[in-house]
Amino acid sequence: MANPNKAMAEKGIMRWVDERFPATQMVQDHLTKYYAPKNFNFFYLFGVLALLVLINQILTGVWLTMSYNPSGEGAFASVEYIMRDVEYGWLIRYLHSTGASAFFVVIYMHMFRALLYGSYKAPRELVWIFGMTIYLLLMAEAFMGYLLPWGQMSYWGAQVIISLFATIPFIGPDLAQWIRGDFLISGITLNRFFALHVVALPIVILALVVLHIIALHEVGSNNPDGINIKDKKDEAGKPLDGIPFHPYYTVKDLVGIAIFLFVFAVVVFYFPEGGGYFLERPNFEPANPMVTPDHIAPVWYFTPFYAILRAITFDIPFLGLKAEFLGVLFMGGAIAVLFVLPWLDRSPVRSMRYKGWMSKTMLAIFALSFVVLGVLGAIPGTPIRTAVAQLCTVLYFAFFLLMPFYSKLEKTKPVPERVTG
Ligand code: HEM
Repeated sequence: MANPNKAMAEKGIMRWVDERFPATQMVQDHLTKYYAPKNFNFFYLFGVLALLVLINQILTGVWLTMSYNPSGEGAFASVEYIMRDVEYGWLIRYLHSTGASAFFVVIYMHMFRALLYGSYKAPRELVWIFGMTIYLLLMAEAFMGYLLPWGQMSYWGAQVIISLFATIPFIGPDLAQWIRGDFLISGITLNRFFALHVVALPIVILALVVLHIIALHEVGSNNPDGINIKDKKDEAGKPLDGIPFHPYYTVKDLVGIAIFLFVFAVVVFYFPEGGGYFLERPNFEPANPMVTPDHIAPVWYFTPFYAILRAITFDIPFLGLKAEFLGVLFMGGAIAVLFVLPWLDRSPVRSMRYKGWMSKTMLAIFALSFVVLGVLGAIPGTPIRTAVAQLCTVLYFAFFLLMPFYSKLEKTKPVPERVTG
């Protein structure tokens, strides 16, 4: 039986805290009285999984930092030391390296959900923009983290990416040198990437995640029907199609989390290198500025953008643009265009369920092009592959740039009054 004295004491403590900090209010606003649509499906799991992976990255990252040596002379050996001598060091490292890939799997699913159900559309533009900023910083975070083991691919991958900045007219070479802090990638570059990877970027990413969730809870979650549940409320002012996040979704999410952790553990324990895609083979050799690896490819989550970069093989002489810089512009444009997505979609409905055939076809073509680009970016180029990459680049951009037209022109289906499940 519950002890009434204990319950009183707990209430007393909570009251004492609440008078000084809005703890109960926050739990109510974001969990027990946050009404989420009752028709959330599989795709709505990935936000919570992104939070979980973020926590995993921070915790394992802190423990790795305890034994890692951020210097050109010591970095590679310290990672070997973590793998062989530090107790459970191998597990901590694999949780972190597999976590990086898992992060992008989860984030790509999370973003795809937003495309499916129009979650970026008004009034959730800021939720989307905070999300896109997180995605951009996450890419910077992963890129800098990849230099830290100071293996061959760390070194040469960073070499390729930093030299992209050097293609910018006028300021490029100076900018690349400023980023490196040296005339070539050296221990100085490693040291500053370490500082950014373990301190600066994680702080900003964490802050943005908080803003992302505050912005979402301000306007309320979208759902697979793309209708606003706040439009239909009962006498008590609660959305008819809403259920409190806790306990309903906390419990539902736990099932998804358990399944995710099961799959994650299988990869960590049995396939930590992910067939050379999560940890690339040349990275088991120490960085050597004198020997270039046979084939330099970024980690899989960057390969769609890398394929776009390589697909640009032509100059535009009358504009004075060389292929290298054009490639950088297209690659940057492929990410930048996502930021303005809320203003490209002019459809009267949010969800794909009620959009017309043009939106559906364009989304399918876009998703396919993204995957094909990802595959092409991971393998050496040939003339045929470059032609396919060029086609996929056109299709990638067509999805966004034609959206104002096809989303407006097509015939949409009537949206139901209440969520359909
Ligand atoms: C560390 C990375 C991120 C974390 C921890 C995170 C977390 C979350 C959480 C917990 C939710 C609510 C649950 C859900 O709808 O799944 C959410 C919603 C959302 N997120 Fe993220 N997110 C992250 C990155 C992103 C990115 C990169 C984007 C897109 C560029 C994005 C766009 C959205 C949108 C549009 C929603 C609202 C979805 C809806 O209501 O239908 N998020 N996020």
